[in-house]
Amino acid sequence: MTKIVVLTGAGVSAESGIPTFRASDGLWEGHRVEEVATPEGFRANPELVLDFYNQRRRKLLSPDVKPNAAHVALANWEASLPPSDFLLITQNVDNLHVRAGSKNVVPMHGELLKARCVDTGEVFPWLDDITLETPHPKRPDQLGRLRPHIVWFGEMPLEMEKIGEALIDCDCFVSIGTSGKVYPAAGFVQMTPTECWRVEINLNSSDNSQAFDDSFVGHATEQVPRFVDAWKKRYGS
Ligand code: OAD
Repeated sequence: MTKIVVLTGAGVSAESGIPTFRASDGLWEGHRVEEVATPEGFRANPELVLDFYNQRRRKLLSPDVKPNAAHVALANWEASLPPSDFLLITQNVDNLHVRAGSKNVVPMHGELLKARCVDTGEVFPWLDDITLETPHPKRPDQLGRLRPHIVWFGEMPLEMEKIGEALIDCDCFVSIGTSGKVYPAAGFVQMTPTECWRVEINLNSSDNSQAFDDSFVGHATEQVPRFVDAWKKRYGS
């Protein structure tokens, strides 16, 4: 059997209607990254930052956002393998992989549908807006002590130990829909063993395309199922 690690980025959810981060104007839905995705930005203007993620959370919960064929192909692929042979690391904060049926998922940049206490770090499932008046779920007299459970620039991504252990031991590494601009995820391909089959799936070539053995160029909804078929042919399963 082969051990597989998949890394996904915003491109895998683009065809579900969730915009990617790096638009050509360098802005993330009209904002500079420093404004809405750093602890400093949150300290400077918490209302703006909370509202930014509130809008994203509402959109994710709207009926028009659904897992697409790429999410489904990854979930079906995982289901055909022993659980210990497959890890899906996602930089996305949406829940579309889990909704498609993926099981062994590490959301390394956090989850939009969770809130975190700024004082204690406790994490809570969260479907509503977060505001400066939101009561703490356990201590309702405390208001405005919650933030989105999102890893901002300058903060440590989640579950790095588990990720590192999977990367150094994998036979196949597939990077899907990520620009390769944000570390540490952009460096994962370099952590895989020399004999590992490294595959990139992207609409265009990314910043670290040269680190991969093969590339599948095009939309994730077409290329991910195509790649899974290629993997099955290669490994005869
Ligand atoms: P980016 O927006 O930087 O890159 C998206 C990538 O997806 C690009 O390389 C596109 O070419 C590709 N792409 C777009 N549509 C696609 C499609 N339909 N099929 C296949 N590929 C497609 O997003 P990420 O690389 O995920 O971090 O960004 C990494 C991190 O930077 C994010 O997790 C976020 C961000 O700032 C935090 O918020 C901490």
